[in-house]
Amino acid sequence: MKLNILLAALLVVGYVSAFDNGVARTPPMGWNSWNLFACNINEQLIIETIDAMSSKLLKYGYQYVNIDDCWSRKEGRDNTTKELIADPIRFPRGIKYLADYAHSKGVKLGIYSDVGFLTCAGYPASGKDFYEIDAKTFAKWGVDYLKFDWCFTDDEIRAAPWKFYGRMSQALNSTGRPIFYSICNWGDFKPWEWAPKISNSWRTTGDINPSWASVIDILDKNRPLHQFSGPYTFNDPDMLEVEVDRPPNKLTVEEARSHFTLWAMLNSPLLLGNDIRRIDDQDRKWAKDIITNEEVIALSQDNLVLQAKVLYEDKRGEIKDNKCVDQNGCVWIEVWGKQLVGGNIAVAVLNRAGVDVNDPKFKKESHTIPLKSIGLSDTNEYVVRNLWTKQKTNAKQQFTTDSIDQHSIAVYKFTKAQ
Ligand code: GAL
Repeated sequence: MKLNILLAALLVVGYVSAFDNGVARTPPMGWNSWNLFACNINEQLIIETIDAMSSKLLKYGYQYVNIDDCWSRKEGRDNTTKELIADPIRFPRGIKYLADYAHSKGVKLGIYSDVGFLTCAGYPASGKDFYEIDAKTFAKWGVDYLKFDWCFTDDEIRAAPWKFYGRMSQALNSTGRPIFYSICNWGDFKPWEWAPKISNSWRTTGDINPSWASVIDILDKNRPLHQFSGPYTFNDPDMLEVEVDRPPNKLTVEEARSHFTLWAMLNSPLLLGNDIRRIDDQDRKWAKDIITNEEVIALSQDNLVLQAKVLYEDKRGEIKDNKCVDQNGCVWIEVWGKQLVGGNIAVAVLNRAGVDVNDPKFKKESHTIPLKSIGLSDTNEYVVRNLWTKQKTNAKQQFTTDSIDQHSIAVYKFTKAQ
């Protein structure tokens, strides 16, 4: 009897990852303060963001409100307890107050520190004597997520980052509190090779910015890493830049839609960077439509938890450094596939074109997918649903996409017709 229960449990859980701390089988969803607010954070912003999360976004699966760098007292730790202290001016009631407030609204609270001696903005950090104290403090405060950065390290840490990130992992586990552990060492020392054993996610690259060049650069770097992502453990291509205006950079609506779709396909944490307090403003409706597309979110939260792969490309003309240098023009279509539960598959067709969206050497394209090339059978018929336009068609042997603008994406779910 007991054996049967165990077998049944294993079947439900499926793949058991190396680091199963019971937190987040599928990628975490929430918000982080850094991309828009950087160091301009305070208690009021976090409370209002928790309120917005609770009333507007919780129902879509978003739940974390993560405070990034600059939250602690810059002058240092408590003299006696050696604990970190929240900045008394900007966070007068401390972090526990915010965690309790978040929990009372069904929201989770995240915090930030660093494996080195100072955070990237120069605030006190956990290295190397404080991992255990800080893990205990965060657990005592009721923190649910820790982002752990990579600034101000020394030779010893850089010689074996897995050891020091591993110490924090153990320290967090020993607290007994389930805390999502997010390593942020910018892809240095190939974290995908060691971080899956000690953490829930690891940054794969340097910082994102709201430009197409950045999105594409990060996409390319994550492309070969699909085998390292799975339940409870995710490659982290960095936080979302949908509707984040950071002059001179800002993604267009189409670029933001592509970015969001691709991050969902990549099993990335979906951490919003925009001002979610204003998500219902009329002029921001387009952004809300993107981040609340439930069918695209469902790709990210699919229970198989498999990162998308490039199935094939249609690349024509001479392209150098993402620029078309061919007088006859170029085509650059990437076809990404993500295996879903029930034998279904999501296929995203990206017209990545050049760096400049107005590059006349690329154009709007529709693309015909031979079903065989995306792993489907030639004899079956499939229902194909466009997850942005919500249109449905049937396809056999091949499927022709809608016309896709430069820097745009079309994403389809293929289900076997009954
Ligand atoms: C960087 C990190 C960013 C942000 C910043 C804060 O190292 O990659 O996401 O956390 O530090 O100073």
